Amino acid sequence: MSAVSRETQPPDGALTPPAPLSTPETARGVFASDRLALVERYAELLATEGVVRGLIGPREAPRLWDRHLLNSAVLAELVTEGATVCDIGTGAGLPGVVLAIARPDLTITLVEPLLRRTTFLSEVVNELGLAGVDVVRGRAEDLHGSVTYDVVTSRAVAPLTRLLGWSMPLVSPHGSLVAMKGQSVIEEITEAQHLLHSWRCGVPEVLELGTGVVDPPTTVVRVAWADPTQVDWPLASVARRRTSRRVRRGGESRGA
Ligand SMILES: C[S@@+](CC[C@H](N)C(=O)[O-])C[C@H]1O[C@@H](n2cnc3c(N)ncnc32)[C@H](O)[C@@H]1O
Repeated sequence: MSAVSRETQPPDGALTPPAPLSTPETARGVFASDRLALVERYAELLATEGVVRGLIGPREAPRLWDRHLLNSAVLAELVTEGATVCDIGTGAGLPGVVLAIARPDLTITLVEPLLRRTTFLSEVVNELGLAGVDVVRGRAEDLHGSVTYDVVTSRAVAPLTRLLGWSMPLVSPHGSLVAMKGQSVIEEITEAQHLLHSWRCGVPEVLELGTGVVDPPTTVVRVAWADPTQVDWPLASVARRRTSRRVRRGGESRGA
């Protein structure tokens, strides 16, 4: 029996109900009072349905607020009023659903290839009544050449070398990629130097967000275009050609 199943199943085999999640005081400074009930309900859905459906590990349930919800919510400080946001590889909705709850002024597209995750996301969006949120089942590359956004977010999706190719074709001329990263951020930037240059990106910024709200603060890398006047669709078609070559070679599968 694994450590996880020992934790979640008592000797008689009955499932242990998740401990009730208590809302930290810091959450009240991050979410407006009329949005707090929504994020509390989302936390509850993640800790129950999210765990049962294998979208989030059982060990994460007790630390949802610090490590997932508040950590994602602090991204809001980088997003301007009324912006369009695309969260690629959103999984169970991190950070996209949290941003949608914190910032009802935003228009948010949640992109995720796996069906059981998009099913959960659609249920969450409907239940919470999140206007202005679309759930798209697909890979980020599927949207290349058809739409761009002010901000393209991601968390735990891929190293920067791969994220650039997935995200930058979705970034509008004055927009940016905002990826949540861990301690490897500087190393990832170093490894991506040649790609940053060939994608004609500006110098990446490493930012620490949420000091005093989350400990440790959330580290993000933000990448904008070097010259917004030079951003054109050939960049997207290069990415499309690479994608279709991969698909012709058998590509990656889209499981449920
Ligand atoms: C480790 S999970 C992270 C999920 C979520 N962002 C989080 O922090 O909990 C990575 C997610 O990226 C998705 N993914 C992988 N490749 C992708 C692509 N090319 N476009 C969009 N999503 C992708 C996977 O299906 C998976 O849900």
